[in-house]
Amino acid sequence: MIFLNSSRIIKKVLTTSAYRDVTNDRPPSFLKDYLYQGGQDIGFNDYNNLLVKLRKISHTVIRLYGEGVHDFEKMINPEVDVLIEKLAQATDKESFDMDAAFSESLIRIIHVFLTNERLEAKEAEEVFSTVEEFNNTFNRIIAVDKNLILLMFPWLQHIPGSNGDLVRKLRHEHKKILRYFLAPDKTEVCHASTNFQLGNGSLIGTLRLEQDNDKELTDTMIEGVVSDMVIGGFSTTHGALDGIFLLMMKYPEVQRRLQKEIDDRIGDEEPSLADRSKLPYTNAVILECLRYIRHIPLGIPHYVREDIEIEGYTIPAKSTLVTNLYHTCKDEMQWEKPYEFYPERFLDVDGNLLPSDHPTRQQLIPFSVGRRNCIGESFAKSRMFLYVTRLLQKFEFQRGKNKLVSEDSSTWIRCAALHPQHLNCKIVARK
Ligand code: HEM
Repeated sequence: MIFLNSSRIIKKVLTTSAYRDVTNDRPPSFLKDYLYQGGQDIGFNDYNNLLVKLRKISHTVIRLYGEGVHDFEKMINPEVDVLIEKLAQATDKESFDMDAAFSESLIRIIHVFLTNERLEAKEAEEVFSTVEEFNNTFNRIIAVDKNLILLMFPWLQHIPGSNGDLVRKLRHEHKKILRYFLAPDKTEVCHASTNFQLGNGSLIGTLRLEQDNDKELTDTMIEGVVSDMVIGGFSTTHGALDGIFLLMMKYPEVQRRLQKEIDDRIGDEEPSLADRSKLPYTNAVILECLRYIRHIPLGIPHYVREDIEIEGYTIPAKSTLVTNLYHTCKDEMQWEKPYEFYPERFLDVDGNLLPSDHPTRQQLIPFSVGRRNCIGESFAKSRMFLYVTRLLQKFEFQRGKNKLVSEDSSTWIRCAALHPQHLNCKIVARK
């Protein structure tokens, strides 16, 4: 296993023409073989024409330009409204469970993204618990130690004991997720629905339409992409939002400055994605949270197709490359004051956000880079922007009498996506 410890090396190895054809596969893993039938999805597939096709289809649905921006807001805002209403009712409580509230809100959005339909009240509780359980079990198995044990001794899944129990639980929850999202009545709705249009339609609807003309796109692949999105679209952004709001409570002066920027530049208007350029400090805070928390610590491993040489080291074919995003975010060789929460690092002397090609921005790569970079990057960033601006415009988030977890993410729940143990707070309505 080779750890790539700086943004410069990660970019060189994953994106430059000298390497990229041979560094963008995925290594063998228990989940790849046993849940995704050898990588019949996006996240675990090797780099091949089919993967390119699946990524392209997903991108057409997450179309965050032109009319797509408006569609995206139409998808997110009603769900943020539900959350705002819930928070408004909690303003008299000493302790409100923000972690659970984000979880439900994000699951609602995934539901619309996949199906074009808002989650119905009668199904909500069951869908929340199914998605949460599936994510928890998946995250436990994908952790390096469990994944390796099960890859080396796959028969462990068939005998009584904790490993077998975990695998059986995952299979059961996986089936439940697919049964729910790919039920024939839901798929028909996805195909036909006209009351909501996101890009070419919902992700499932778009995949089904493609499948009508492309026999290469099998049911197994559609299942794979659906579970990728349930995993990718949920635990990553959940950890990020929890982290941002935890830091807002730990650094109330940052929270106040961000709110002042919203008040001064947007006032009482509902924030929209078009406001991003008006809010440099807010953008800088979001970037700094991604750096400071580094909640996807080791990315997703890559696999080397042929022998290569990196900076004088020979890396044999079939080696696993780990993008050590955890280290790159606080590398003392890369960052000034790496252990300080310091959003100003992303602003110039006039308070403008540094351009995206500025070296400081370029070395922040929480979504990785190149052919396998996160396909949900703009989706995740836009969603975080709307949650942060809309919630902080209306409420102040205070610690109150609640005990907050450490801001050091290495003490959080250890999974593929780091996540604080809890996030309880006091919510105060802003006048
Ligand atoms: C803050 C939120 C997120 C972060 C930090 C994040 C980070 C990452 C990282 C580091 C990778 C691995 C890239 C590589 O292999 O080099 C990845 C892959 C991926 N992400 Fe995300 N992600 C986020 C949100 C999302 C969302 C919202 C979705 C879906 C809508 C998503 C879907 C995926 C998928 C499908 C892949 C696999 C891509 C491939 O293998 O080709 N992610 N993400």
